[in-house]
Amino acid sequence: MSNHLRLGIAGLGTVGAALVRMVQEKEEMLTTRCGQAIAITGVNARSKNKDRGIDVSSAKWFDDPVALAKSDDIDVYVELMGGDGDPAYSSVKAALESGKHVVTANKALLAKHGVELAEMAEQNGLLLNYEAAVAGGIPIIKVMRESLTANSVTRVFGILNGTCNYILTRMEDDGLSFETCLKDAQDLGFAEADPTFDIEGNDTAHKLSILASLAFGTRIAPDAIYLEGITKITIEDIEAARELGYRIKLLGVATKTSSGVESRVHPAMVPLGSAIAEIGGVTNAVSIEADTVGSLMMSGPGAGGDATASAVAGDICDIAKSKPGHQHGPALGQPAHSLLPHERSQMRAHEGGYFIRLTVQDKPGTMASIATRMAEQDISLESIVQRKPKSKSGGENTQAPIILVTHETTEQAIKAALEGVSSDGRLIGEAQMIRIEKLS
Ligand code: HSE
Repeated sequence: MSNHLRLGIAGLGTVGAALVRMVQEKEEMLTTRCGQAIAITGVNARSKNKDRGIDVSSAKWFDDPVALAKSDDIDVYVELMGGDGDPAYSSVKAALESGKHVVTANKALLAKHGVELAEMAEQNGLLLNYEAAVAGGIPIIKVMRESLTANSVTRVFGILNGTCNYILTRMEDDGLSFETCLKDAQDLGFAEADPTFDIEGNDTAHKLSILASLAFGTRIAPDAIYLEGITKITIEDIEAARELGYRIKLLGVATKTSSGVESRVHPAMVPLGSAIAEIGGVTNAVSIEADTVGSLMMSGPGAGGDATASAVAGDICDIAKSKPGHQHGPALGQPAHSLLPHERSQMRAHEGGYFIRLTVQDKPGTMASIATRMAEQDISLESIVQRKPKSKSGGENTQAPIILVTHETTEQAIKAALEGVSSDGRLIGEAQMIRIEKLS
């Protein structure tokens, strides 16, 4: 195996198993393209005897990923276990300390420890490649790290979680419940081990924090992101959005402002017909706005074994193609010590319009209360529609849904207006409020 690039793979789940298959089935093509044969010489997973439909019998089995990472039998440690703590963290550190290049798909790990790990890789002259960590099969890291060097990025945004996009798409297309769609996403292997990370937006935030660091040359700061997931989105919201010419997407948005970086993850209304609205199912899309190149958008599969393994394999081949003694580019696009502190900029006051869905008492004066309270807060309405009442009692307790779309205003003003409607005794339950995203 002396001429081979020897891989130690930790984690043989959906992505790990797909990678093993890919390396074995495409052996000849990879050897030609990488200029070096690739061999899997070490593996680790939670269970040794589980049938994964792959043959790793020629690789040495390790019960401990840290031992695999340190092993003299490997040149590259491929971390596909996930999680921001141990054993992912300790094993990646052990690999870098013992002179092994690292390839990882672990966005949670990079969001939490990326700067430290990048620094270790630089100091030891090693590569830390993580294409698969953001947007699955889309080669966005390479583009941002290598191809946009001469650009100052002003905004990076996109659909970064395949599970959420799959759920929202199927709810709209098939009228299925949130729970059914989530279960399907889990069965298809898109979702995280803990799917709350997908649906509450944490996974998107991890990915956004990495993109923001590459975009703005700042330290990775996942905790500086405003976070709102998709668990409160109902079929009613999706239908009302469609009737008003919008579609609901979970977006991650990082914008350079005069005071720092504003990063947010939340459901957003995007206009039907816009490129981002057309991104359906498990597909992800990343859009970059920059001074030199203008606007770019890349889309493709954001999750799934083969798509993610494709990005991992590309990272492995980049290591095979790198020459000994060649100065590797820094993992975060610039030396880790030169990254600026992440200055969190407050969510801007004026973000655009809002979609609001209220359930109100269907009695005289309710519309007047809404209009008055909105006017008191200087909120201009683009449209207001009352739907058929849900209950047919015809009395005081009849409930009716009302959908409002506002012109540009502030979140504070919306909240104050809704409190007013509530204090007038008109509001039933909580109002749904979704931002309308301005796209350039
Ligand atoms: N759970 C993630 C998603 C997998 O749904 O996008 C890829 O990071």
